[in-house]
Amino acid sequence: MTSKNIRKKYLDFFKSRSHAIIDSASLLPENDPTVLFTTAGMHPLVSYLLGEKHPAGAKLANVQKCIRTGDIEEVGDDVHLTFFEMLGNWSLGEYFKKEAISYSYEFLTGKNWLNIPVENLAVSVFAGDDDAPFDEEAYNCWLKLGMSAERIAKLGKKDNWWGPAGQTGPCGPDTEMFCWNGDGNPPEKFDPENASWVEIWNDVFMQYNKTTEGNFEPLLQKNVDTGMGLERVTAILQNKKNCYETELFQPIFRKIEALAGKKQNLTTNTEAKIVAEHMRAATFILADGVAPSNVDSGYILRRLIRRTINKGRKLGINGAFTFEIASVVIEEYCDIYPELKKQKKFIEDELSMEEEQFAETLKKGLKEFNKIIDNVPDFVRKKSFNGKKAFFLYETYGFPLELTVEMAEEKGFSVDKKGFEKAYKKHQEMSRKGAENKFKGGLADDSEQTARLHTATHLLHQTLRDVLGDHVEQRGSNITAKRLRFDFSHPEKMTIEEKTKVETIINSKIAEALEVKDEEMSIEEAKKVGAIGIFESKYGDRVKVYSIGNYSKEICGGPHCKNTTELGTFKIKKEQSSSRGIRRIKAILN
Ligand code: SER
Repeated sequence: MTSKNIRKKYLDFFKSRSHAIIDSASLLPENDPTVLFTTAGMHPLVSYLLGEKHPAGAKLANVQKCIRTGDIEEVGDDVHLTFFEMLGNWSLGEYFKKEAISYSYEFLTGKNWLNIPVENLAVSVFAGDDDAPFDEEAYNCWLKLGMSAERIAKLGKKDNWWGPAGQTGPCGPDTEMFCWNGDGNPPEKFDPENASWVEIWNDVFMQYNKTTEGNFEPLLQKNVDTGMGLERVTAILQNKKNCYETELFQPIFRKIEALAGKKQNLTTNTEAKIVAEHMRAATFILADGVAPSNVDSGYILRRLIRRTINKGRKLGINGAFTFEIASVVIEEYCDIYPELKKQKKFIEDELSMEEEQFAETLKKGLKEFNKIIDNVPDFVRKKSFNGKKAFFLYETYGFPLELTVEMAEEKGFSVDKKGFEKAYKKHQEMSRKGAENKFKGGLADDSEQTARLHTATHLLHQTLRDVLGDHVEQRGSNITAKRLRFDFSHPEKMTIEEKTKVETIINSKIAEALEVKDEEMSIEEAKKVGAIGIFESKYGDRVKVYSIGNYSKEICGGPHCKNTTELGTFKIKKEQSSSRGIRRIKAILN
């Protein structure tokens, strides 16, 4: 069973159970301040899970590309990935536990579907605690379907609870499905600690809303949100130990092998796994319009590329090579993700430039390295290379520790690795804290303020087109409770006059007390009425178009406020470059 087959079967299955199939959203969340990347299939659907009506209906399914960077340093083992594909199905206030669990069971075990013997499956359900009771309903559903009690584990919040994505919002118990991927027959009793039981699917039952006081109140609209990892399922169905052995990665390994110019089995080589994994992720991130930089998603991308380059050198690959691996990723995945082909030139150009720039940085680092060595006085007999300084080289110039060690040894020095580790850990803790702060909040919080800034974003989009020209197109949008951020295509810095003009127009539109309305229509109709926004049939046939008076019409999922009088005064705080050909505006409402 190929991965292509699995994707198709999944979508066919849910289509035949009257779900609308929606496209994968971009890896860059729109209008979500809480994270840098789309981390799950439910992520682009948050406003619908909170009650907004989805134009495609109340039962949805898709394959969503996702990025999770929390364990970036773990990549290279058999299980951690930064990029993965998630198969998901949703019920927005329609079906609940009984149907969701039956669908999952039927898809996993059905002869026409994945055909996994039930003997190879196990599940877990929420055991209950002070906040919410034991999920007896889910437990009984599994029993009824024929799962033996020995194969149903009851676990606590740590394992069987999902969300909220921010501090508050929808959350609830989940039931997780595991498949045996060990040697021989699975044991009678399910032991969740046994790593041969691989978690493959997660059905989340969003039935509570966590309030700011920390209470769990029942939700009026109960939703189902499920997620199945494509890579894992593919490996299991192909009797492979891990996803690197499947066709999702094999062509990439063959390319790495050719580039290294040596016949070898790279599938079990840690460096090669990192190169393959990171380049797959980097190619997809680039395809969604991010360029390497020193902030946010651009910085994550830069790390992925630079780590790839370092590991590539260790494999004996010389010269620029990342674009060659990217072109394999593009070839392998463009059937399912056409944006890869469309962005091929951008992807390859950015990779070439990043490699050049990194080579420059390394050169500068080399100078710095020599300075450090030369400054160790001759009378220091124990020639030790300071660990903090080794970390400085790593941090500032991207010098991997191995490289510093190697070069230092050539000069008769040994590197204080413990000192390096210490500096490294401290740095990591600090950046984790930074990340946690970034992830705090969420669309669910300050939803009114978010809606106001969202409406202001639509006004800004239209006004930029009026002032700068029709080449202006949205390249990204991100809203926190305090500000909006809007990326758009425009080749040069805006002048002071242009910025003032934009502010004046927007504030005059706000003063006109324009009504904000939404209407559902087909893509064709949306085009006819002159709506702007993302036209790729994101939600299949029907889309929602928000209009602000007669001034702006834009395809969008909401939420918005009702009238521009709610907005206050619009002010641009910053206009800067985001990447080549893309400008970024940060603005507030007073
Ligand atoms: N949101 C859940 C997860 O990420 C199910 O899709 O696992």
